[in-house]
Amino acid sequence: MKNLLTTICIVLVATTLFAQNQTIVLNQPDTNRGLPVMKAFAQRSSQAKFDTLSLKLQDLSDLLWAADGINRADLGKRTAPSAMNSQDVDVYVVMKAGAYLYDAKKHQLDLVTAGDYRLQVAGRQENFAGAPLFCVLVSDISRFKNGTDSVKLQMAALDAGIVSENIGLFCAGTGLATHPRVTMEVPKLKETLKLKSSQYPMINNLVAYKKN
Ligand SMILES: Cc1cc2nc3c(=O)[nH]c(=O)nc-3n(C[C@H](O)[C@H](O)[C@H](O)COP(=O)(O)O)c2cc1C
Repeated sequence: MKNLLTTICIVLVATTLFAQNQTIVLNQPDTNRGLPVMKAFAQRSSQAKFDTLSLKLQDLSDLLWAADGINRADLGKRTAPSAMNSQDVDVYVVMKAGAYLYDAKKHQLDLVTAGDYRLQVAGRQENFAGAPLFCVLVSDISRFKNGTDSVKLQMAALDAGIVSENIGLFCAGTGLATHPRVTMEVPKLKETLKLKSSQYPMINNLVAYKKN
């Protein structure tokens, strides 16, 4: 009976942890975890099958820091390089409770829109909609100070691709499942994420536990 109650409590805590909080304060990244980098490369792959279980707070925290967190506080620089250090890529996290924006400086998630918009990220690939979360990588090309729009969009794609690969290697190194995808319902997501005209959703990565 005691075990049953404990299990129920754990499930309730896990399911309510990210239930429409205005702010999700993330844990400090655990920089000691994961496979050595060459083993992570050996494991990297895109997963089409995954568990639907929500991510634990430490996994979510480490994922976002690895994706594009601040790794040199004195310089305000990030785990992902960006053209001319423009830091044009924002990571939006779309999960059951809502769509959140990752604030790398505060290492926290801020609610943008409450509600479940995962189907908009899955787009026509509805089989992905059950993923517990998607990182939607959005470039704000107004942060590039030079270049034509075409050059800016090229840099945006490169910068977003690097963040996506950070996620891919983090997942490979920690045993999580991910899948990078350009498929998504961009016009609807622009509304959900309250994007400006200079902000472009470039690519998304689902992140989940692997299915046993
Ligand atoms: C820029 C980019 C866009 C992608 N878009 C999609 C997509 O829209 N849908 C999808 O199922 N997979 C997508 N993928 C995943 C690729 O299909 C996958 O990486 C490829 O088949 C190689 O498999 P691997 O990642 O396991 O090596 C994309 C990958 C990249 C790099």
